[in-house]
Amino acid sequence: MSVEFCGLTLAHPVINGSGTFDAIAAHRAFGESLNEEFPFAAFVSKTITLRPRAGNPPPRLWEAPAALINSIGLPNRGLEGYLAEDLPRLERLLPVPLITNVMGSTAAEIAQLVQACDARAQIAAIELNVSCPNVHTGLDIGGDPGQLEEVVRAVRPHTSKPLIVKLTPNTADVAECARAAQEGGADAVSLINTLRALALAPRPRELQGEQGSVHASAASPAAAAAGGGPSRPWLGAGTGGLSGPAIRAVALAQVAAVSARVQIPVIGMGGVQTAAHARDLLDVGATLVAVGTESFRDPLAGARIARDLASQPA
Ligand SMILES: Cc1cc2nc3c(=O)[nH]c(=O)nc-3n(C[C@H](O)[C@H](O)[C@H](O)COP(=O)(O)O)c2cc1C
Repeated sequence: MSVEFCGLTLAHPVINGSGTFDAIAAHRAFGESLNEEFPFAAFVSKTITLRPRAGNPPPRLWEAPAALINSIGLPNRGLEGYLAEDLPRLERLLPVPLITNVMGSTAAEIAQLVQACDARAQIAAIELNVSCPNVHTGLDIGGDPGQLEEVVRAVRPHTSKPLIVKLTPNTADVAECARAAQEGGADAVSLINTLRALALAPRPRELQGEQGSVHASAASPAAAAAGGGPSRPWLGAGTGGLSGPAIRAVALAQVAAVSARVQIPVIGMGGVQTAAHARDLLDVGATLVAVGTESFRDPLAGARIARDLASQPA
């Protein structure tokens, strides 16, 4: 079941979606037994930014039907903190190659992040999260093919490691964005990131009807805020990103469209819960599959899916 991906030999095609599995915390919880069957064939870090970020104001999560809306806001120690604190820990505990995911709001900022990752032997590949507003235009860097190609072209010379561009699904033509990333020099693309979504704070009457639900149990600030007036956004940041089973069909359509357009490898993700879901993404052209939200429900989902894929070959 081993897979060649951008010069790396991976034991199987299942990796994690950035930000959905904390290998350091999992090691703390599960100890060395985590490595007996590490859930993923490569580990993708959460997004690292140049400067530390505290993340978005709470609440940060909303449970929607078959989905999660999050506005975590990419809290992280910043590049220096990641290199000094997380990287040595990850090097000690990871039994698989490390892919570091980075995000910046200008080409120069992204180049600085990429250059720093390039200098570290522990990092096998770099993933660019381009779901970030350009500081000048306010538009997501990854949402416009012309802008994306320019940024990837500017960043490419700063690393000889595999460069994966994580596309945003919040765009008119994701396949055109994938083509632009390839033209700019990307070695692979990954998709889908979360879909922009809005949840409104429950009205007091709805809260009474939802005793015991995740909304009701976390609802006291919103209950006060809702107060009988017009509903306001639930999440502290306003909108968030939708993930989980509800986005699987969107992911399948976008991965199929991108795979048909580019020659570079594609990492498919979005709502994968079982080997059958992973197989669907592989069938439409993905080389690897990433598991995200499902790992919150079952931290060993990656291992289960990889095992089931191997026992039910195509
Ligand atoms: C709580 C949470 C945090 C996430 N953090 C990141 C992140 O730091 N960087 C990133 O590129 N994607 C991030 N994602 C997006 C996932 O990697 C993935 O693209 C998306 O959730 C779709 O896959 P899923 O439906 O299997 O979760 C996050 C998703 C969730 C749910």
